[in-house]
Amino acid sequence: LTDAFILKNGVRIPCVGFGTWQTPDGETAVQAVLAALADGYRHIDTAAVYGNEKSVGRAIAQAGVPREELFVTSKLWNDEHGYDSTLRAFDKTAADLGLDHLDLYLIHWPVPARFKDEWQEKNAQTWRAFERLYREGRVRAIGISNFLPHHVEELKKTAEIMPMVNQIEYHPGLMQTEIVEYSQQEGMLVEAYSPLGTGKMLGNEMLNKTAERYGKSAAQLCIRWALQNGVLPLPKSVTPARIAENADVFDFEISAEDMAAINKMTDPDGPTYDPDDFPL
Ligand code: A2P
Repeated sequence: LTDAFILKNGVRIPCVGFGTWQTPDGETAVQAVLAALADGYRHIDTAAVYGNEKSVGRAIAQAGVPREELFVTSKLWNDEHGYDSTLRAFDKTAADLGLDHLDLYLIHWPVPARFKDEWQEKNAQTWRAFERLYREGRVRAIGISNFLPHHVEELKKTAEIMPMVNQIEYHPGLMQTEIVEYSQQEGMLVEAYSPLGTGKMLGNEMLNKTAERYGKSAAQLCIRWALQNGVLPLPKSVTPARIAENADVFDFEISAEDMAAINKMTDPDGPTYDPDDFPL
């Protein structure tokens, strides 16, 4: 979308991204991304493990938006940690997306189950490959996802370039304040996946009542709330009307009082996954 955050290396990142987690591969993904690009989204977030990169790539090619207007993110999956395997995985992702460079590449999870006893070393090797891809201009920014402060502290011991982004689960009730504040202090932009709580926040009475006062939907309120907290939301939808709705968040401002009330919400479920005990 029109407005943007600026990463610490000066790269501009359109401030609402289009999420594609749980978007089925094939025509559904192609149509969803085409709809998003037609609605003005210029930032697409995908990952190797979502299994839809070829379809995302097809939509990007078909839409014909100039490459320099687009911001495309992907993520390294858990079975590819390590120096050589990261370089190979990046090549495959770029080829699947049909792109010669990516805008942002993230380590998807800090502690893959298979590398549970050697995650520190694996992340150090992986990050060295990320730094190479960045220096070679194959990716315009590099970052991490689901990293807790202690994972970042470990990475710092060997990193020459610090991550520019940390993408985490974030929605009303799940602000993960400690991670957000730490990441921001370290100069990272925080991105929110599941900014609608994978949809479950949309039935919340308080959010709906508040949204109504602005003439907006609960989804738009959640997206705007993330933005006003300095966090980049990545709402996912495969429904054209919702895709358009989720981009229409620039004509209202949530009051300080309403921000404070939403900030106080609590989600008894907590985060979906424990980054130190991820199942895959
Ligand atoms: P669908 O993709 O079928 O349209 P999150 O971004 O937090 O992961 O939430 C995604 C979920 O919320 C999906 O199930 C999506 O459904 C649903 N969703 C996305 N945008 C809206 C909206 N504006 N109104 C209602 N549901 C939405």
